[in-house]
Amino acid sequence: MQAGGGRGRAGEKAYHIWAMAFNGSVVLLHAFPLNAEMWRPQVDAVPAPWRVITPDLPGFGNSSEAPVTAMSGMAEHVLRTMDSLGVERAVIGGLSMGGYVTLALYRLAPERFEAMILADTRATADNEAQKEARRKMIATVRAKGAPAVADEMLPKLLGATSQREHPELSTAVRGMIESTTPDAIAAAAEAMMNRPDSTSLLASIAIPALIVCGEEDVLTPPSDARGMNQQIRDSRLELLPGAGHLSNLEAPSGFSGALHDFLTTLR
Ligand code: MLT
Repeated sequence: MQAGGGRGRAGEKAYHIWAMAFNGSVVLLHAFPLNAEMWRPQVDAVPAPWRVITPDLPGFGNSSEAPVTAMSGMAEHVLRTMDSLGVERAVIGGLSMGGYVTLALYRLAPERFEAMILADTRATADNEAQKEARRKMIATVRAKGAPAVADEMLPKLLGATSQREHPELSTAVRGMIESTTPDAIAAAAEAMMNRPDSTSLLASIAIPALIVCGEEDVLTPPSDARGMNQQIRDSRLELLPGAGHLSNLEAPSGFSGALHDFLTTLR
């Protein structure tokens, strides 16, 4: 397996590509406020004909791009990354905020999708209470920095089973959150707060879709995943026991197995 990447801040990689001889690409978009590193457990699970691309969204991880305050701006960044790699069409998906970006990208350029992955995410926009919580988070990160955001989010990001049985996950996720700049956190919170409702888009999705959700996800619960499954014609749903919102990290084999099986049905 080869790994390659584009240059970002401090000469580090702003995206990772993992490939053998490939004949298709899978683009995986990370959650908030994490970075592309969260996809490490899935990289080896992708069958050999596929190339895996895990971009850092603007301002996150090793990205050298300025944070953006709109989902469409994040989606345009993903399109530019695909263009720069000569990827015309791909299986494109993401977890949570990565799913919001995926839906924004489908709205912009459906022809770039071979298939879609929506993990622990939802199509609905924020309601007033959720918008108010975003405003509070922006104030918190400005006043106290990323560690305060980690304190607030960790109990919701990880499911009860992970919190009880996998303290190392909490450490790893906290590390990713604390490495994120306040500017990136504030910009993405604004982008999520202002994202449009994508519910009506679901019925227009005419490609195969994999929907994954941790059974213990309290942020985007299985009911959201079931709703998307009902509305996307050619979709399959995988619910992962023992996993919360970060299902790819909390149930790595279950998530990777679902991803592997889905990709195998496409080739
Ligand atoms: C995420 O995991 O990306 C966030 O929890 C999404 C959100 O806050 O809506």
